[in-house]
Amino acid sequence: MNTPLRLVSLSLVALLAGCGTEISRTSEVTGDTSPEQESSGQGSADTAVEDDTAVEDTTVADTTVEDDTTVADTTADDTTVADTTVDDTTVADTTVEDTTVADTTVDDTTVVDDTTVVDDTTVVDDTTVVDTTPPYPPAVTVLNPSTFPSPPYLMWVTQTAVSVRWETAAAEPGVVRFGYAPDALTAGYSEGVSRTTHEVRLEGLLTGSTIYYSVGTEAGATPVKSFRTAPADGAGDAFSFVVFGDNQDGPSNFRGLTPRMAAYDPDFAMSTGDCVQNGTRGEFRSQLFQPLTALASTVPFLVGAGNHERYSDSGASLFNEYMSQPDDEHCFGWRYGSMFVLFLDTENSVDPGSPQHICIENQLGSEAATSATFRAAVFHKPPRIEFWLGGRLAFPASMEAPQVRNILEPLFASYNVNIVFNGHNHLYAHTPELPNGITWVTTGGAGGTLDTQSFFWRVGTWPEIDTQISEFHFMHVNVVGSTMSLEAVAANGSILHSFSITP
Ligand SMILES: [Fe+2]
Repeated sequence: MNTPLRLVSLSLVALLAGCGTEISRTSEVTGDTSPEQESSGQGSADTAVEDDTAVEDTTVADTTVEDDTTVADTTADDTTVADTTVDDTTVADTTVEDTTVADTTVDDTTVVDDTTVVDDTTVVDDTTVVDTTPPYPPAVTVLNPSTFPSPPYLMWVTQTAVSVRWETAAAEPGVVRFGYAPDALTAGYSEGVSRTTHEVRLEGLLTGSTIYYSVGTEAGATPVKSFRTAPADGAGDAFSFVVFGDNQDGPSNFRGLTPRMAAYDPDFAMSTGDCVQNGTRGEFRSQLFQPLTALASTVPFLVGAGNHERYSDSGASLFNEYMSQPDDEHCFGWRYGSMFVLFLDTENSVDPGSPQHICIENQLGSEAATSATFRAAVFHKPPRIEFWLGGRLAFPASMEAPQVRNILEPLFASYNVNIVFNGHNHLYAHTPELPNGITWVTTGGAGGTLDTQSFFWRVGTWPEIDTQISEFHFMHVNVVGSTMSLEAVAANGSILHSFSITP
């Protein structure tokens, strides 16, 4: 996460909400082809993240009203406003108390109920949204995103928000234009400061809607792409997603998979980690974001950090810079429709009492988790591995993550986790539902050199695993009501394995 620039649609105020993030971690990592060490890091502590809706130093109110617009008693949920300037809005004599903005007025604006909104924008219920700025000036030139070091990618979608990311060679104030029709990107937002890794979080979007967007500058914009926000509560019991892992160091293989993933038109994507081989900036560009653009420019994704993200970057500072994920970006929960997903980082301790253990219990005990139909977990290292490059000679016990087996598995069982997606082992492996109720999937075949099945590569025997296939692949998952159907899809589109679970 950069210092995120956020477009807050609350009460017509478009502004920057900086999130200073400091992440300190101690971890040691070695290559896959040599013994690995478990990290002694303590779950990405000391991360400071401000309330998404916290707005400081803003002034609003008693605005001049023009064009038959009347706004009264507008409420900005969870927001504080004071001493600010709002585009094209005159502000004065505002009363702001505990998230309430009173007597506000706005040019050319329609306000419904106690909601928000703006500029010729349709307002639905109390949900709302959009266009916190006046119609944004159209771009004069078309930018080619393939020339960007990191083409546009979307992360962390919710019912009302998404993070738009891209990287440019030269520092410049990035601009995101967006709207509800491909020919009407009427809303827009400029970062206002020059930077190369751009991050704009669009907030206040309509739930369950298709949003069209482009990125660029005041002068230029990329071709219009679209994505969908998460469905409303109660409507989110039918959706689909893809899961991939360990694309590291295999961009040509990964580039072959991402269009096939996108062709399923999934609602979101998840990675089980090892997005890059050594964690360098060049690798994030060439091994992850460039091959991923075929998917991530339209499908928002989230990642469970792997060990390779840290190989030349023990603090995972570039991972943290490039990703836009909740909380500390290494342990967090995320709800989409009827499913809750716990993301964690197996390079950080999960020992009882550790920050990450506390995080896991807090997340799995949350209302978002306990009220979900499905509880899933996504993280890098699996509890059981049978085949590994180099075989038994290259296989210290830590590689298999016994802490996952000994600590997390019983913990997950106590919180009724249904399914876990892992990577690290470069193949597909399926462990059908265990007596504790958990189904395990290893999907580590998105590009990195495959772990093959042979006598010389065998490192263990786990009767719990019933299927292993050493092929490049990803998971395509459909959720309909109380049935989750999963299939491992090969690079040529064939289905390698399929199964379904019910909670
Ligand atoms: Fe790994």
